[in-house]
Amino acid sequence: MAANNLKGLILSGGRGTRLRPLTHTAAKQLVPVANRPILFHVLDNLQKAAVNDVGIVISPETGQAIRDAVGDGSAWGMKVSFIEQAEPLGLAHAVKVARPYLGADSFVMYLGDNLIGSGIEAFRDEFEKSGAVSSILLKEVDNPSSFGIAEVDDQQRVLSLVEKPKEPKSNLALVGIYFFTEKIHGAIDSIKPSWRGELEITDAIQLLLSQGCKVLSHRIDAWWLDTGKKDDLLTANTVVLDEWVQRKIDGEIDGASQVTGRVQLGKGSRVIGSTIRGPVVIGDDVLVENSFVGPFTSIGNGCRIISSVLEHCLLLEGARVENVDRLEDSLLGKNSAVVREQKSRQGYRLMIGDDSEVLL
Ligand code: TTP
Repeated sequence: MAANNLKGLILSGGRGTRLRPLTHTAAKQLVPVANRPILFHVLDNLQKAAVNDVGIVISPETGQAIRDAVGDGSAWGMKVSFIEQAEPLGLAHAVKVARPYLGADSFVMYLGDNLIGSGIEAFRDEFEKSGAVSSILLKEVDNPSSFGIAEVDDQQRVLSLVEKPKEPKSNLALVGIYFFTEKIHGAIDSIKPSWRGELEITDAIQLLLSQGCKVLSHRIDAWWLDTGKKDDLLTANTVVLDEWVQRKIDGEIDGASQVTGRVQLGKGSRVIGSTIRGPVVIGDDVLVENSFVGPFTSIGNGCRIISSVLEHCLLLEGARVENVDRLEDSLLGKNSAVVREQKSRQGYRLMIGDDSEVLL
């Protein structure tokens, strides 16, 4: 039986066009949420579900960064294999490329930029007991025309799947976590690329359905975020800070500062003459001086916040904010700087990378 042998397949390739400019230089799955790469949250969730043999699909461009970040998987007590996909030709294409790794085992496919607010243990158990060839997770959404949508019967069996339907038959969107038996491989061999030139996993599942195979679904009540978009990334940061952060102070706080609520302050970090209100995560070697850092802010290692007010922001490693009256709902890339010059106030002076956005 494959029951003890459920492998994990994390899709961590792709282009990440929707998260540019962050993804010009980095893999989107390594963008941190609450100072921890999204991919690590995915690995945490697989570990909790006792999935300990995991393949990670990577692209030639960002694969090395992912290998370096994850290592051999021993941090999660897992065996991790990396599988290079030469081009992002679709989710089903990624499964095809991973076939030598997957063999005849059942597996859970997990999109490396998806976060959910619950474990997947219960879904794993049910899938393994059910005898279904596949099981998908569904979440109610407000705008079904933007998602892959499933129609299900009252036994939760899937009747049909449609990508971004104009006239949706339900508001149940496919979450980026799917369980499969080896049957999926035959279906993938039989499908053709879609209009966008990709092998779609929804087409492969639809083919299984039309062959009369049993495909189950589970509706999740917890939150689900596809962090591949900027606003979702800020929302993910808020939700993860809200639910998962515990107070832990390793750095130094001077007598003139006030640090209240669930705040993490990393090693070598210093808070001088400032107020910090949790939930906030601050990495290592950060300086916060004469500033206010409000709730739902994540500050990466080596950042400097001087004489500024920040709220609901995500700052990646080495970012610098100085003399800024108020910065909110903002995402600052690695080593970026937002500085108000005190002498000349007549105009803004900017150096902005490709695909950047500045709202003044
Ligand atoms: P998507 O977000 O659908 O695709 P993308 O990463 O190319 O993003 P964008 O639309 O912003 O350009 O991919 C979902 C996840 O699956 C993501 O973690 C990347 C991964 N992926 C692969 O590993 N291989 C692929 O062929 C595709 C399409 C995606």
